[in-house]
Amino acid sequence: MCGIVGYIGDENARDIIIDGLKRLEYRGYDSAGIALCTENGLVVRKRQGRIQNLENMIAGEDLYANLGIGHTRWATHGAPSDRNAHPHCDRSGRIAVVHNGIIENFMELKEWLQKEYGIEFQSDTDTEVIAQLIGVFYSGDLEEAVFRAVEKLQGSYGLGIICSEEPDKLIAVRRDSPLIVGLGEGCNFIASDIPAILRHVRKIYLIENNETVILTKNDVKIYNAQRQEVHREVFHVTWDADAAEKEGYDHFMLKEIHEQPKGILDTIRRRMDADGKIVLDGIRMTKAEIENFNKVYIVACGTAYHAGLIGKTVIEKLAGISVEVDIASEFRYREPFVDDRTLFIAISQSGETLDTLAALREAKRKGARVLSVVNVVGSSVARESDDVFYTWAGPEIAVASTKAYTTQLVCMYLIGLYMGREKGTLPQDVYDRYIEELLAVPEKIEKVLRQEKQIENLAKKFYRRDNIFFIGRGMDSAVSYEGSLKLKEISYINSFAIAAGELKHGTIALIEEGTLVIALATQDRLLEKMISNIQEVRARGADVLAIAKENRTAVEQQADDVIYIPECMDEITPLISVVPLQIFAYYIAKQRGCDIDKPKNLAKSVTVE
Ligand code: G6P
Repeated sequence: MCGIVGYIGDENARDIIIDGLKRLEYRGYDSAGIALCTENGLVVRKRQGRIQNLENMIAGEDLYANLGIGHTRWATHGAPSDRNAHPHCDRSGRIAVVHNGIIENFMELKEWLQKEYGIEFQSDTDTEVIAQLIGVFYSGDLEEAVFRAVEKLQGSYGLGIICSEEPDKLIAVRRDSPLIVGLGEGCNFIASDIPAILRHVRKIYLIENNETVILTKNDVKIYNAQRQEVHREVFHVTWDADAAEKEGYDHFMLKEIHEQPKGILDTIRRRMDADGKIVLDGIRMTKAEIENFNKVYIVACGTAYHAGLIGKTVIEKLAGISVEVDIASEFRYREPFVDDRTLFIAISQSGETLDTLAALREAKRKGARVLSVVNVVGSSVARESDDVFYTWAGPEIAVASTKAYTTQLVCMYLIGLYMGREKGTLPQDVYDRYIEELLAVPEKIEKVLRQEKQIENLAKKFYRRDNIFFIGRGMDSAVSYEGSLKLKEISYINSFAIAAGELKHGTIALIEEGTLVIALATQDRLLEKMISNIQEVRARGADVLAIAKENRTAVEQQADDVIYIPECMDEITPLISVVPLQIFAYYIAKQRGCDIDKPKNLAKSVTVE
């Protein structure tokens, strides 16, 4: 996590960097800092808390520089505080470093620097080791000192480095943490992510692992680990900076909830021809290749993992192949049965989640074919996969994922349908029915969105509850996990999701007078069983808010409140039933006065293990 940004050019670096940091705040926001190479040497300012605190701190200062770096932090080593905030400097105060990632051997290096050079560390961070290392190796050539220091580092890093002795140079290094370079006219930029600098440039270099970049205002040179210069194609950003603005909504999360119909339609349209045939252009999936797979493994984290749970049911059903789903951080240490007949599907909004990336590499090492479902074009997961299936959600800024999740679900259906059809095992009428239902989803979500006021009122009724349970059967159980995660992420209410049939095997002990149970009852096939589960919790004093398809009066008779979703096939409901849960979580958090787009302790892109 953490975001870094850097600028070299003729304008005031200070404003460009502060603006860039604000656009990276989703990556972490417990402290922020800036280092500027001014006429009077390096000026470093840093502050605990949001970027606004840093901005207030420097508001009255006349700071001018053409070179600078900035950082927004999600603490790993050392508590969030002014002293642990980046940038960190070497002991001479001439070199400043911002870092995204973790230096795994920092203890060893710290001891060595203390013993050999008598260095007194100013922070508890792993990052300061990098600045001090560069400092001890520096003898007039920053490039040389950086190369020597990086050789000693183990772990992950996206680095921005400046030195007051060399005010015409900005250096960046990448290993396993995202890093891009923006190419301007008479100016150049570095950043963790494209939105940070999209106001200024559209031409980008995507930096690869173990590369070092030397930027001056008119030139960018990229070197590999052997210090050979490498050529890089320019990547042209086609999407707009405005896509990352709130456009009148109070929060990005609400805006992104409302963008789901469009994101879903875009994701379908990109992969479907006029006759409703799914086309996976650029993805190698011939009939023979599909027939060669004997297993699918879906691996992801957080919300993306929940999309994988739905993916399992959908792909097994449509493609007739066994699918396993795993949490990325568990998968890689499990010694999973993966080989060259495995199709490994990694799902990741950001494409930078380190756990997912590490799992992907493990699967590749074992010979699996890697297909990723990713939202961020050119991200690490996308680049390291054999094939990429992009979701067309557009930039997702709120930490709590909404539109990325539903577009990931769409990909699960499209992959399942495509595989089933290619194999010849999926009857045409079933295929056609699914396509028809999928295409109708955006309009059905619009219908749910029109119930926003009603859902807000329910949130007003329930926002003081301390414990909220989510239950469901079949596909509803996977959706209930996602509904519960959304709620706890942004409202901090203790919430638990469990398959409804499992409730009686232990968890029902927690149900008491006043507990709120959100019961997903959208699966017609399982409706009677679900109604029994609702009765069980009501008998123990719970209030029940149900999610059901229209006209299911049996649910209405049993539940205290019901939110209805439009009629659709059982198998398609996850795409729709999650939407009221997202809106409910949003308004609960709003009632409780929470910082919805930036919940405490979380970050959007988790680039640590
Ligand atoms: C973090 C975020 C979650 C997200 C998960 C996976 O934990 O807080 O909202 O679902 O990472 O992110 P990815 O970018 O891989 O989908």
